[in-house]
Amino acid sequence: MRMVDLIQKKRDGGVLSGEELRWMVRGYAAGEIPDYQMSAMLMAIYFQGMEPEETAKLTLEMAESGETADLSGIKGVKADKHSTGGVGDKTTLIVAPVVAACGIRVAKMSGRGLGHTGGTLDKLESIPGFQISIDRQRFFDIVNDCGLSVIGQTGNLVPADKKLYALRDVTGTVNSIPLIASSIMSKKLAAGSDCIVLDVKTGSGAFMKTLEDSRRLAGEMVSIGKHAGRKVAAVITDMDVPLGAAVGNALEVAEAVRTLKGKGPKDLEEVSLVLAARMLSLAGKGDFEASRKMAEQALKDGSAFACLKKMVQAQGGDSAYLEEPERFPAASCSAVLEAPEEGFVSHMDTEGCGTAAMLLGAGRATKEDSIDYSAGILLYRKYGDFVHKGEPLAALYAADEKKLAEGKERLARSYRLGKTSPAARPLIYDTIL
Ligand code: URA
Repeated sequence: MRMVDLIQKKRDGGVLSGEELRWMVRGYAAGEIPDYQMSAMLMAIYFQGMEPEETAKLTLEMAESGETADLSGIKGVKADKHSTGGVGDKTTLIVAPVVAACGIRVAKMSGRGLGHTGGTLDKLESIPGFQISIDRQRFFDIVNDCGLSVIGQTGNLVPADKKLYALRDVTGTVNSIPLIASSIMSKKLAAGSDCIVLDVKTGSGAFMKTLEDSRRLAGEMVSIGKHAGRKVAAVITDMDVPLGAAVGNALEVAEAVRTLKGKGPKDLEEVSLVLAARMLSLAGKGDFEASRKMAEQALKDGSAFACLKKMVQAQGGDSAYLEEPERFPAASCSAVLEAPEEGFVSHMDTEGCGTAAMLLGAGRATKEDSIDYSAGILLYRKYGDFVHKGEPLAALYAADEKKLAEGKERLARSYRLGKTSPAARPLIYDTIL
């Protein structure tokens, strides 16, 4: 086979066969196909797209390009979730313990935040002592004992995606639905769970800004999962408004704990319950309604909070911070963003809110940047709320005045106030099964 022939086939709108995709993925991962040819192929895929079955075959080849997690050492059904990323999205910290408390195992590999979106690993690492790198046997033992464990991605999982993603990043080919779907799903398939729930975010703070693109991405990912013989569902949820009130690592852990104790923001609780119920019902716990009741009960009776606490202790974290989140160190500097005029919050540039949190120190502009766990934002007013002139819209926290001023300026530009109450927005747009 010659790469140039495959590039020409895709350029002219052809469909690559399983054999061709296998040869290409293996050859690229082994360094036998040069970046310039793979760049041309990525651009051809960007413009020509892929057939659903073609995308599924590409994904399976990518998933098999390195180690795949064999979770057979964990007893029972294993369910996983994945969010396409957002601002204030701390649902894993709630959903995973809820699902575990209902008897389904969650053996999860999570990622770090980059740009305007946060990452579960960073949030967990804000708990002093918490370890995200543990060996395989210990990971299994913790899942068997606590019902859940969340760790960082292990070394050689989907090396083809690492290479391809880095190349897409510098060739203008990140934003292609088949390439995004295969990148995400190759990692989910390699991570080994039986059931996968995808939280596909939509709106100004999401990767996919329009509902139409979010639906296409969700559909592609569900089709790949089914092709691979897994139970998969995608829930399309709103990210036109930050989720909950807290944006920033320790602030988000504290808010997740409040939610697990039934005292969290209603939007965060609702999205978490829907995702947890989907995972439970895919895992065979009953229909969606019955699963939702189970999830609500796990919040109400404290069993979900107990699961989170047990996991944090097992991974070396100081669970006193969960019992008393006021222990998290306060940032050295804080400020309040006041409403410049009276009105209803009629729009939030949610990506802007995430960028403001990053400027405060809560996120990374590049993978090498370090994180300030205390930095972030507490949103006092969100979309649809009324505010008088001079009343607080949000509080901001940072390590120094320069970062505080930069974050405040960016957050101020993310709020739009209007004279009339804006139309209510759905929190859940659709579920694709
Ligand atoms: N997240 C991924 O893992 N891959 C993509 O291509 C986009 C988002």
